[in-house]
Amino acid sequence: MPKFIINGGKTLSGKIAVSGAKNSALKIIPAALLSTEILTVKNLPRIEDVERSFEVLSDLGAKINRQGDEATIDTSNLSSTELNAKMANKFRGSIMFVGPMLARFKEVKFPHPGGCVIGAGGRPIDLFLEGYRAFGAEIEEVSGKFYHIKANKLQGADYFFPLVSVTATESMIMTATIIPGTTTLKNCAMEPEITALAEYLNSQGAKISGAGTPTIIIEGQEKISADTFTVIPDRIETGSFVIMAAAANADLEITDCDPEHIMTLLQILKKVGVDFSYGPDWIKVNSGKLPLLAHGIRTHEYPGFATDLQSPYVVLMTQAQGTALIHETIYDRRLIWTDMLSQMGANITMCDPHRIVTQGPTKLHGKRLMSPDLRAGIALVIAALIAEGQTEIDNIYQIDRGYEKLEERLRGIGADIERVE
Ligand code: EPU
Repeated sequence: MPKFIINGGKTLSGKIAVSGAKNSALKIIPAALLSTEILTVKNLPRIEDVERSFEVLSDLGAKINRQGDEATIDTSNLSSTELNAKMANKFRGSIMFVGPMLARFKEVKFPHPGGCVIGAGGRPIDLFLEGYRAFGAEIEEVSGKFYHIKANKLQGADYFFPLVSVTATESMIMTATIIPGTTTLKNCAMEPEITALAEYLNSQGAKISGAGTPTIIIEGQEKISADTFTVIPDRIETGSFVIMAAAANADLEITDCDPEHIMTLLQILKKVGVDFSYGPDWIKVNSGKLPLLAHGIRTHEYPGFATDLQSPYVVLMTQAQGTALIHETIYDRRLIWTDMLSQMGANITMCDPHRIVTQGPTKLHGKRLMSPDLRAGIALVIAALIAEGQTEIDNIYQIDRGYEKLEERLRGIGADIERVE
C-alpha cells in the first residue's frame, strides 16, 4: 500500500491552487442520470472518489469520456437499474446514484454504501429511505445490507428532515426534479454544493427554489436538459491549506478558491491571531508573530464550522497558546484520530467521544502513522509538515480519495514529501 514519507520542519511558501470540490463532483456525476442529454463536467478533481463514481456509472451502461479535468457523460442508453455491489460498497458517495435512478427508472437496487469509518453504525441512510417512501416508493431491505426500491408511481411530497443532512437533501432534490407534483423539503442542509447543484439543474429546466435556505420547493418537470457544469472550488481543501499555512507559520497564497465558503473558519482564525487577507478567489496567509492563541470550536452544519475542517484545526490548536475545547457535533467517531496526534507529542485530553481539549503550544515529533479517514489524513500530513523529524503515513488511499496529487502540490511550496509504493 502506498504511503507518504514526510520530513518535517521545511519552510513552506509560494502559491497553491485549490481543486474542484469532491463533494460537488460526487453529486453532479449522478445528476447526469436526470437527463438523456450529454453532460459536460469541468474542473473535475482527479481523486479516487470521482474514479469510483465513474466506475459505478459506467457499470450501469453510461458512456464516459474523460480528458484531464473534464468529462462528458452520456446516460441515454443505460442497461441496468442495479448498482454494482462491489463498486458501490467501496464509498459513501454511491448513495447519490439512488435518487436519480429511482426518479428515472422507478426502480433501483443497491448495497448499503460503505467505505467510511466516521459516524455511528456505519453511517445510516434512514433519511434517504424515509424520503423515497414519502415520494411513494416501496423499499425491500435485506438485513440492512441491500435494498430494492420500486414505485408504480412517484409523486412530489412534503418532507421535514428530522436532522440536517447534506446528501439526503441533495438526493431528494434530484428525485423531485423529474417526478410529477410539487415537493416541499424543510430543515434542509444549506451547503454551497447544494446551491451549485440546484442552480445547474435550474439552468437545464428544473424548477427548484430556496436552495441554500432551510426550505426548498421543487416543482417536478417531465424532463430536463443537460449542458456544462463547472465544479465549484473545494472549500474543505481551501480551509485545510489556510490552516496548514497558519500552523507552519508560512507565507502562502491559496488560489482558485472561494473565501466566502469558509467565512466561519476565517473569523475564528482572526481570533487565533492568524494574519491573512483575501480577495474574490484567493487567500494570502502571512507568517507572523507567535504564538497563536488557542480558541475553541463547535462543528455545525453550514454556514457553521465544518466538521470536515475539525481535524486540521486540531493540529493548529496544538501550536497555539492555551487550551481549546473542540466539540464535534456531527459525527460520533471523528475525534478518535487525535490519539495519533498525541503520539506525535500533542497534549490532548479526550473528555468524551464528542469533545477534546488541546493544550498548547507543543512540539510535534515524527512517527509512523496510518490515515484512518480522509480529513484525519490531511490533518496528519499537516502535523507531519510541522513536526521535527520523519513521519510515515500509511493507508494514504484515504487521502487520495479527496486530495488530488497532494504530494506534488505540497512539494511545489517547499514540502519534503514522497509517495512510496
Ligand atoms: N445521518 C443519519 N441518517 C441519514 C443520513 C445522515 O443519521 O440517513 C447522520 C450522519 O450519520 C451524521 C449526520 O446525519 O451524523 C450528518 O451527516 P450528513 O448526512 O449531513 O453527511 P453526509 O451528507 O453523509 C456530507 C459530506 C461529508 C460531510 C458531511 C457534513 C458528501 C459526499 N459528504 O456527508 O463529507 O462531512 O456532509 O458536512 O457530501 C468528507 O468529505 O470527508 C465528508 C465526510
